[in-house]
Amino acid sequence: MNPIPYGRQDIDQDDIEAVLSTLQSDYLTQGPKVKEFETKFADYVGSSYAVAVNNATSGLHLSVLALNLKKGDRVITTPITFAASANCIRFVGGEVWFADINPDTYLLDINSVKELIESKPKGFFKGIIPVDFAGLPVNMQEFRELADAHDLWIIEDACHAPGGFFTDTKNQKNFCGNGNYSDIGVFSFHPVKHIACGEGGMVTTNSKELYEKLILLRTHGITKETMEENHGGWYYEMIELGFNYRLTDFQSALGITQLAKNKKGVERRNEISSAYKKAFEGEIKFQSLPKNSYNAHHLFIIEVENRKELYDYLKLNNIFSQIHYIPVHLLPYYKNIGYEGANLIHSENYYANCISLPMYPSLTSDEQNFVIGQVLKFISNGK
Ligand SMILES: Cc1ncc(COP(=O)(O)O)c(C=O)c1O
Repeated sequence: MNPIPYGRQDIDQDDIEAVLSTLQSDYLTQGPKVKEFETKFADYVGSSYAVAVNNATSGLHLSVLALNLKKGDRVITTPITFAASANCIRFVGGEVWFADINPDTYLLDINSVKELIESKPKGFFKGIIPVDFAGLPVNMQEFRELADAHDLWIIEDACHAPGGFFTDTKNQKNFCGNGNYSDIGVFSFHPVKHIACGEGGMVTTNSKELYEKLILLRTHGITKETMEENHGGWYYEMIELGFNYRLTDFQSALGITQLAKNKKGVERRNEISSAYKKAFEGEIKFQSLPKNSYNAHHLFIIEVENRKELYDYLKLNNIFSQIHYIPVHLLPYYKNIGYEGANLIHSENYYANCISLPMYPSLTSDEQNFVIGQVLKFISNGK
């Protein structure tokens, strides 16, 4: 059996041709493909606007800036995520407050968030950053109600979840990042994610005001709008301190062909997940699926007691599993600024046992059966 990674990109001939054709065009960056990708992505998730960026970390940074987060402002997020979900708060000097996860869904637990908010005076927090962890959509309708009651904004970190959705109480399907209940959604196009651009990201919103701020800050805070007539064609003004967080045209061309395959890819990911669940049901704990949710399955995670031994055993058998994630509050940077003693028991228990098994559309049934066989063999030997 060839090495089996936990995740991998699928690049087909049409992806290669799309990139080649853009490389041979007049535009390498900021040409027509960026706009086309943004329009198609917004259409796919159902948001009014989409802004392509060079990676999701930049997208998160732009999002907190657009929402006017300032030094000392406090924002709640989950410790079970990639560090960038929390780091964006630190980028502007904000304070990260972690709430615990639900031990079954592994998502930020709304009750834990509510408890934290209610333990502080009104106005203490500015926003919440829930994460559609592993591809499972957060019920954003519930978070919106809580956020509205306390005057908070919501950035949905949907990096794991393009194509995931939940059905709300109005029986309406809400694709992750559609902006019906969150202010901003952020996606990543790193190769282990659903849509591979090398590096890349997308920020979605339904607010014209936020969209305009995001566009401005993505390109140095520079605008040319409505100035040509008064000054001449060359004229521009820098009106904010912005960044260069742009995505190139050839990456956007790749994003467009990758996006076209995402629906099928997510369906295949769900087939793989069903086969894992069928094999492990009653034997091994895995991420639960709330009613009315469709998991985009960036990851398939199980929990076992002797996780390190399983990780090493799979590696010996050429299966390269991964751990998602070391809780953010236990990373040295966060420990050093005082988070070590945080009371996040579900997150820490989860981390002690979690392991992500191979999950990507081109994983073959033979490969998956081999993975399942090895996991079950390890478990039965341990009993
Ligand atoms: C949940 C989450 N948020 C943010 C990011 C940052 O994405 P990027 O690598 O595109 O900056 C990642 C990437 O791993 C992620 O998994």
